[in-house]
Amino acid sequence: MLVLGVETSCDETAAAVVKDGREILSNVVYDQTRLHSQYGGVVPELAGRSHVENIHRVIREALAEADVTGSQLDLVAATQGPGLVCSLLVGINTAKALAFGLGKPLLGVNHLEGHLLAVFLQEQVEFPFLGLIVSGGHTDLYRVDGFGQYRVLGRTRDDAAGECYDKVAKMMGLGYPGGPIIDRLAQAGNPKAFKFPRALLESGSLDFSFSGLKTSVKNFLEKRARGQIENISDADVAASFQEAVVDALVVKLTRACERENLQRVVVSGGVAANSRLRERVQSAARPNAFQAWFPRLEFCTDNAAMIACAAYFRYKNSASFPFPMDMDAQANLAL
Ligand code: KG4
Ligand code: ZN
Repeated sequence: MLVLGVETSCDETAAAVVKDGREILSNVVYDQTRLHSQYGGVVPELAGRSHVENIHRVIREALAEADVTGSQLDLVAATQGPGLVCSLLVGINTAKALAFGLGKPLLGVNHLEGHLLAVFLQEQVEFPFLGLIVSGGHTDLYRVDGFGQYRVLGRTRDDAAGECYDKVAKMMGLGYPGGPIIDRLAQAGNPKAFKFPRALLESGSLDFSFSGLKTSVKNFLEKRARGQIENISDADVAASFQEAVVDALVVKLTRACERENLQRVVVSGGVAANSRLRERVQSAARPNAFQAWFPRLEFCTDNAAMIACAAYFRYKNSASFPFPMDMDAQANLAL
């Protein structure tokens, strides 16, 4: 079964052809980072316009690379939400036009389900497992009992972890997106140079909170600029900030596994590309009796292969198919 996936929920214009949910025939991503970096974050209207300019080229490239014609496709799938409406609409409407023109069924995919199942592009993880989605828009813990069987165990009460990385990088004048920049800079720093707060660690809750950490870094930077703090470099700040984020994620993930009696963990979303998080989760795995999986780096950040993969499993396991042509974007679509 050949699925064309289309992803335009934020600032990546992406299309992929995936066979039987696993075999990636093509995975094209046009990254708009350069467009948004001068503003220090994604500008929704510019993102939507850039999708309009690039989506046709990206889809054509995905089909050509896969050596597949439109008529050979079995299904056209696009991200329905959550995301920026003006970005989502471009992918959805292009997918609709294609499905209509080719006479193929159309499927709307939840972006979060795409992240959660991205690891299936590499290998099938046995159910049940704990899914941690850490991205620019989400920090959610799910109990995953099967395809389509997702229960929220905890989530952020304010900023998402990726958002916090991006805002801290902006405060430090490091550029956008902040996650990969801080990840690299932190490798030269001391994670114990300064103890930033870890929110909600003691309360027994499985929720997260990162806005206090962000404020604490802001206060720290102001004090350092006034000369009240000395001998702590940008690399030390990056490493110490990162350690606070990773500590919170690892503590909640371990707590959730214990509480739900789960032995398998899948971490996904853009922040799952973080080298320190990958290292810390793997070293927490053995003493806490769980096994951990991470998608390959290119499947952590937004891509369309994960959308085609999720569409395939939804098609195989669900009755809600195909989607009607009046399917609309949903900025806050829940999983
Ligand atoms: O999943 P994603 O591509 O888009 C959303 O669905 O939000 O995630 C993007 C987020 C950004 O906040 C970016 O800074 C963060 O993932 N990110 C990272 C790393 N690579 C991307 N955060 C920490 N370390 C990284 N290596
Ligand atoms: Zn995402």
